[in-house]
Amino acid sequence: MADKENTDPQKMEKIVSLCKSKGFIYQSGELYGGLNGCWDYGPLGAELKRNLKEYWWRKNVQERDDILGMDGSILTHQAVLTASGHVGGFSDPMCDCLLSKARLRADQIDPQSGTAYHYTGASHEESSWSVERPFSVLLTDPNQDENKARKTAKEYYSQFLSDKQISPKKLSLQGETSSEEKDTTRYNPANGSLLTEPREFNLMFQTKMGASSDDSDPNAVAYLRPETAQTIFVQYKNVLDSSRVKLPFGIAQIGKAFRNEINPRNFTFRSREFEQMEIEYFCHPDDGLRLTDEWLEKRLCFYEEIGIPREKLHILDVPDGERAFYSEKTYDIEYEFPFGIQELEGVAYRTNYDLGVHQEHSKKTLEYFDEETKERFVPHVVEPSAGCDRTALALICEAYDVEDLTKDGGKKDERTVMRFKPCIAPIKAAILPLLKNKPELVEKAKEVKNLLQPFMNVFYDEAAAIGRRYRRQDEIGTPFCIAIDFQTLGEADEDGYDLTDTVTIRHRDSMEQERIAIKDLLPWLLERIR
Ligand code: GAP
Repeated sequence: MADKENTDPQKMEKIVSLCKSKGFIYQSGELYGGLNGCWDYGPLGAELKRNLKEYWWRKNVQERDDILGMDGSILTHQAVLTASGHVGGFSDPMCDCLLSKARLRADQIDPQSGTAYHYTGASHEESSWSVERPFSVLLTDPNQDENKARKTAKEYYSQFLSDKQISPKKLSLQGETSSEEKDTTRYNPANGSLLTEPREFNLMFQTKMGASSDDSDPNAVAYLRPETAQTIFVQYKNVLDSSRVKLPFGIAQIGKAFRNEINPRNFTFRSREFEQMEIEYFCHPDDGLRLTDEWLEKRLCFYEEIGIPREKLHILDVPDGERAFYSEKTYDIEYEFPFGIQELEGVAYRTNYDLGVHQEHSKKTLEYFDEETKERFVPHVVEPSAGCDRTALALICEAYDVEDLTKDGGKKDERTVMRFKPCIAPIKAAILPLLKNKPELVEKAKEVKNLLQPFMNVFYDEAAAIGRRYRRQDEIGTPFCIAIDFQTLGEADEDGYDLTDTVTIRHRDSMEQERIAIKDLLPWLLERIR
């Protein structure tokens, strides 16, 4: 749960608004009122997310000999998710408020104490209309009396009035009794109304395959995967056989996962459709705990490399009883979001639970044979499981800065800067001719753009004064601005130096400028954006 004292809702509002106005993230289906819990990445957001995924893939797959990649299907065989326990158990207990119809997570309701008023139904004083349904209201404030409870109860019963001419004020409540309640979670803390009994609500999205109209055909049912991990477990043997790798080794995957979250919230943080970046690292049972600690450290270094400082990361050693029942050790890596300290990634020692259940259900051996020790066993697994959208959101929150540039006694000035690391920044360099009405400057600037464009995402901009153009790039996090001026074309500078075919590079964070030859530009940038 978020630590309210460490939250900054205003900052978050500004970030959400910048994300929309600059084209990082939009509400999905906004034109039609929005699809709750789903988000679309705009031009800059798509680049940012892509850079993040590519960096993760490069570091965790391409630069390692012991990890292989895969890309599994989203539609998942129901037998896979039955074996993994998701069909039977991937659920949250949920209840509905009888008055407002709000849906609440039953396990997140704080216990309350007070006086509960109970009713058996209501009738109308001036007609034959009546309804028989039990309803209760909890009053936790001792200064409130039964009149408050009656008002709430009348509101509830008035929902059943079909004749809109009948005023709810003319309702008589029936069978009023009261009781003292202690630490109850049966009432909505927002309005005191009784809640429905908690029901288990499976978080998976189910769908039907093919043209079968037979709803009872179990082979027609499929699920959108709730985690990428299960696709890895069920392909573990194929990857092992086709790649002839030896333990310990990992299989990595980046892909979409879907959960019908009861309360999607905090912008993209808790979504119904999201992407995961997961590694299942298979090992000997003796190595599981040690490798979990090693992976934790590796993952912390990764976050630092992409621009999330260690001091903003928190490690939660998840205590016994709060971990998944099969996990012997789990660390949550948390980040200080403006809405509180919240989980970015879980590093879990899942033992041999997953391969074990798939072996049992599929009746096919998933054992590993160690040639050296002649040992045969079901491998154990360490799983670093990161959320791509959460990491992208953390990168955006971390990069966001409003810098005060007011000079002594001068006019107030501030600039918004997204301080992305160059490897993550959506646009690596902006190419800016000093003036747009000088064809020689424009031509040279386009030459520079054509030189860089095959190697990186660059942006050409000739509109407005150069200072304004710099600020526009600061706001979207472009680390380097390249200006083409008259010295580039051969005009001597004020000290008489010849600067032909050089450009000015302006650094986003320091706003300092340096001169560099066009012929050195590409290697100079490539060295800095990886
Ligand atoms: N395979 C393990 C697994 O899925 P998890 O803790 O449920 O574990 C792993 O999810 C990561 O996926 C989380 O740390 C988070 O970054 C991301 N994630 C989970 N649910 C999410 C949601 N509703 N919206 C966005 N990201 C989510």
